[in-house]
Amino acid sequence: MPSYTLRHANPAKTRCDAVVVGLVSTSKGAVVAEGGEEVAKAYGRKLRPLLVTLGATGKAGEVVRVPGGEVLRAGLVVFVGLGKPERGGAVSPQAVRRGAGAAARAVTNAASVALALPAETPEQLRAVAEGYALGGYTYTTYKKAKDDDVQGHPGEVVLLSPGARRSDMQAVVDEAQLVAEAVARTRDWVNTPPGDLTPPAFADAVVEAAKEASKGRGVRRVSARVFDEKELLAMGCGGILGVGNGSAAPPRLVELTYSPAKPVAHLALVGKGVTFDSGGLTIKPAASMNEMKSDMAGAAAVVQATLAIARLKLPVKVSTFVPMAENMVSGSSVRPGDVLSMYGGTTVEVLNTDAEGRLILGDALVRATEVEPDVILDVATLTGHMVVALGDKVAGVMGSDEVVADVLAAAETAGEAHWHMPIPEAMDERIHSSRIADLSQHDWIRWGGGLFAAAFLREFTGGLPWAHLDIAGPAWNSGGPSGHVTFGGTGWAVATLVDYARSLATDAG
Ligand code: BES
Ligand code: ZN
Ligand code: MN
Repeated sequence: MPSYTLRHANPAKTRCDAVVVGLVSTSKGAVVAEGGEEVAKAYGRKLRPLLVTLGATGKAGEVVRVPGGEVLRAGLVVFVGLGKPERGGAVSPQAVRRGAGAAARAVTNAASVALALPAETPEQLRAVAEGYALGGYTYTTYKKAKDDDVQGHPGEVVLLSPGARRSDMQAVVDEAQLVAEAVARTRDWVNTPPGDLTPPAFADAVVEAAKEASKGRGVRRVSARVFDEKELLAMGCGGILGVGNGSAAPPRLVELTYSPAKPVAHLALVGKGVTFDSGGLTIKPAASMNEMKSDMAGAAAVVQATLAIARLKLPVKVSTFVPMAENMVSGSSVRPGDVLSMYGGTTVEVLNTDAEGRLILGDALVRATEVEPDVILDVATLTGHMVVALGDKVAGVMGSDEVVADVLAAAETAGEAHWHMPIPEAMDERIHSSRIADLSQHDWIRWGGGLFAAAFLREFTGGLPWAHLDIAGPAWNSGGPSGHVTFGGTGWAVATLVDYARSLATDAG
């Protein structure tokens, strides 16, 4: 993570290796965005023809580099496109976040960088800090340190903002850094090869992370409890055990609790932790299996969000439930036709072993109801149907209307795209269509599979306020980096969950 210094200074007079300036695209061509005015002034009339010659348009993600020369104290100017400004000329926080992310990848060889992007409002400043930190994310654990493509990062990053002297602005930067850190650690876990992140290894890593996060000054301890396969058997967690049974690595359930002194609300989080999804006996085609190490992205997100909420000292109690299993093929795999008895006693007829997420989540959701939270949110890479419906950059949200609305509002401030999907009444009949068990896990009707899955999960929420985030699309980026989103695990939902907890704190407080 970069360490930031927040300053109100003239970017044209700031000594550094590179200064980053935004460009917006207008009907008159590329125009320097807020925050870069002094740099534009230093260039004077020469700037516009220079930008034209360079072919700069200001479109989102565009990067154009110019030597600072005699005009600036910086050796290099990095102009980064922010797209079209909003009406009135302002740049939206999301455009700033994306631009800062692209800029981070354009300055990897500079020792010191000044960011002169739009950062007048707290929302913009937060976006600069988060976007820059995340856009420069790399995952190099498995690379030789000196490989050419493993790049360095500037040691010193100065955030320039006209509001720098206001105390709330420094807090915004500290919080942004903390959230970006949580997102980056989520990406690390999602990017880890599945053979190295089996359920027992993942559980150990979560316990370790909880210990580490509890070290901060004045942070209340996040307690962690791990249930192994013997304890899961004694508890009757048939969903987690059923899915985990085909793997040489046994399943786990991890429960975290963050209990602030005076909580104003109690939030329960549940995350799908399938460390690898081969599909089981209903095996996936090769191409669909490639990215299935990312099937624990929901688990990683709820854990890291919990730790971030604790480190932010938000007055919201958080109880987090993380079922972990590896969905594999072997002589002991669960079969289509098997009936599993879930935690709490509901029986489920398994008809497609590739619809495993709902099985492990069912157990964990019932556990969550037992702590009597005000609201439950579950996060899961649950269905390819949601990817078909919304594409790979938008998550689907289903559940209680009020909770869904609050999640969408949080997602908006967090800069993550979510969309409300329905749970049609007809799904109820479909999930109750088993002739031999209480519920059908699957019915081979393709249409609305993501909504069927949500209806199935709802059966385990005890009627509590609840929302389900299907992040199967946006949890993994198989394309090139774009804005603050890099290749591989994206850390999706962490920022939304943190902002949701913030909204609980302010609404109730
Ligand atoms: N982990 C997958 C869902 C998924 C698909 C995540 C694509 C990320 C990208 C899930 O366990 C799964 O296999 N779902 C099935 C459900 C079906 C069998 C009802 C699917 O989407 O095909
Ligand atoms: Zn899965
Ligand atoms: Mn599956």
